[in-house]
Amino acid sequence: MNDNPESILKLAQAEFASIMDATELEQAKARYLGKGGAITELLKGLGKLDPDARKSHGAAINRAKEGVEAALAARREALAAQKLERQLSQEALDVTLPGRGQDVGGIHPVTRTLERIQEIFSSIGFSTVSGPEIETDFYNFTALNIPEDHPARAMHDTFYVDDAHLLRTHTSPIQIHYMMENEPPVKIIAPGRVYRVDSDATHSPMFHQVEGLWIDEHVSFTHLKGVVAEFLQRFFERKHLEVRFRPSFFPFTEPSAEIDMGCVFCEGEGCRVCSHTGWLEVGGCGMVHPNVLKHVGLDSEKYLGFAFGMGLDRLAMLRYGVNDLRLFFANDLRFLNQFK
Ligand code: FA5
Ligand code: MG
Repeated sequence: MNDNPESILKLAQAEFASIMDATELEQAKARYLGKGGAITELLKGLGKLDPDARKSHGAAINRAKEGVEAALAARREALAAQKLERQLSQEALDVTLPGRGQDVGGIHPVTRTLERIQEIFSSIGFSTVSGPEIETDFYNFTALNIPEDHPARAMHDTFYVDDAHLLRTHTSPIQIHYMMENEPPVKIIAPGRVYRVDSDATHSPMFHQVEGLWIDEHVSFTHLKGVVAEFLQRFFERKHLEVRFRPSFFPFTEPSAEIDMGCVFCEGEGCRVCSHTGWLEVGGCGMVHPNVLKHVGLDSEKYLGFAFGMGLDRLAMLRYGVNDLRLFFANDLRFLNQFK
């Protein structure tokens, strides 16, 4: 057995320096400093020596022991530093790599339709206003000349919020809000969400309407026909789009009409979309009823005008050739990606 402290220290230094792994280093430490380790054995042997030799040999063993401990600590530190270095270089970010790229989103077809409608109406002098989606009975019905027991209330399939509030069933209550707060001339459109208990390929429980209102001293049905026809022709980019005003009934207009346009799918020949009539209904309209003007405090002898309400999603369906309204609200990316 090697009993020379200095040569044991040299051996330990050489061995530690060659070790590349922290676990191996701890095993090597045990061979010198552990129970039965080379240094430990030397210390055990001291007892057999006479006092003088014990003193000098003891000092030499302690020096060697300190040396082994120092070499061990230095190697531990070096290995830890190497490990950190390796880790850092593996996890390094290469900031020069090109990015993965972000998909650019698209504007929803209903929003695009709304923007287009606003643009066209603004160019003929209509400004855009809005109103609340939760309404009272007064604004949604009573002020629009639909009294308590009127059958039109039942026809509207209303969602009630509580006894006093409901989700507006059309954009017409915005007419009331606006006329109560603004003096004529009034020349506005009012788009927004409306709600009805209704669902099939052309009806959705939430859909969009755009209301139009022009009130002044000399506004006639001719103006109404001109504005609506001009709008539809520009919206569908067709010079000779057929527009028809079919007599109808709304409590808040008199006379009233339903607005039909020539079917854009079959050019009036008749197809499934237009139920083989060659015509598509896009909205209702008429001359504002004197009772409505009275409700908002306007002199119906002096002022008159027209109103219309069109189905915005229906216009989007027709423009983009979509045959099921519900597709607009299903948020299916395969559908929406086609409109980018
Ligand atoms: C009205 O809501 C009247 N307020 C329109 C009006 C305004 C008339 C001003 C006169 C003066 P109507 O219920 O017909 O009318 O609806 C108008 C349009 O909304 C319809 O022509 C249709 O295009 C659209 N629409 C109606 N119900 C739905 C629905 N459930 N889903 C999608 N679109 C609908
Ligand atoms: Mg209708």
